[in-house]
Amino acid sequence: MPDGNGERIILVGAGRMGAALAAGWLKGARGLSPDRLLIIDPDPSDSAKDLIRRYDLKSAPALGPRMAADVGMVVLAMKPQQFEVAATPLAKALPPGAAVLSILAGVSLRQLQDALGSRPLVRAMPNTAAAIGKGISVAIANEAGLTVRKQAEALLKPGGPVEWVTDERQMSAVTALSGSGPAYVFLMCEALAGAGFAEGLPRPLAEKLARATVAGAGAMLAESKETPQALRMAVTSPGGTTQAALDVMMGEGGLPDLMRHAVSAAERRARQLGGGSGGRGGR
Ligand SMILES: NC(=O)c1ccc[n+]([C@@H]2O[C@H](COP(=O)([O-])OP(=O)(O)OC[C@H]3O[C@@H](n4cnc5c(N)ncnc54)[C@H](OP(=O)(O)O)[C@@H]3O)[C@@H](O)[C@H]2O)c1
Repeated sequence: MPDGNGERIILVGAGRMGAALAAGWLKGARGLSPDRLLIIDPDPSDSAKDLIRRYDLKSAPALGPRMAADVGMVVLAMKPQQFEVAATPLAKALPPGAAVLSILAGVSLRQLQDALGSRPLVRAMPNTAAAIGKGISVAIANEAGLTVRKQAEALLKPGGPVEWVTDERQMSAVTALSGSGPAYVFLMCEALAGAGFAEGLPRPLAEKLARATVAGAGAMLAESKETPQALRMAVTSPGGTTQAALDVMMGEGGLPDLMRHAVSAAERRARQLGGGSGGRGGR
């Protein structure tokens, strides 16, 4: 948790992701001291309202002129399309040394710097599983020093491990893989349930089996040191039922080809939205 040097943290945008991040910071005996956190959101999510009540957090609908005087780190978690509006008061209020951690999809380090001025900046891409501490984030920093990078990492870690890249162009592929990836797995679960229903199972049973199967396989991936390929091969007897299905899935135009096309489309879209801009970052 961000013990840092006692400086304050401002969270701008307390929706799904912002509230999940804040919950992780505040949790436990060694969590962030609530008086160090200020939440800025015109309409906080219900879970953010719960946190504000439970920890007696300071909160405001918008950033006032003196609210950011002694802030160490600002965390941006509004929607990317809300960034421009949010950036104007921030740029005015932030002291020169204050660092910014942004989780806004598709907003590059260059865009952050243009809007908020030259300062330590970290751009990160978490994913939705961060809400239950099972996500993974990828981060890139400008010339921000080690202390700021460590602080940003501590703020992201309650949501899951943090990987760093140095080439900002890779953030589009990251967005396409781990940022959007949970949705691909949810679709896999839907499709599996639909297939079970088509084979004659009652829909509720098919859905229950599909959900438990995806969750169980995910838990094995998380716990096992084996590669996904080894785990797959361990449950595939030659000539058996699994093999019959995998022959369909792994044939031409099958899942690997489909995934390649899908991730490529997401990567292209992320670049169109600005995620690939910025060239090489500092770290
Ligand atoms: N969800 C994910 O899986 C995921 C994964 C990776 C990255 N992200 C990034 O995380 C960010 C937040 O996503 P989310 O799903 O948490 O969105 P969200 O639930 O819509 O949360 C955004 C919050 O920001 C508030 N807001 C709007 N304008 C503001 C302003 N000027 N100042 C302060 N707060 C403002 C919104 O209030 P209103 O409701 O009134 O607009 C809302 O409460 C996005 O930038 C997204 O790209 C999300």
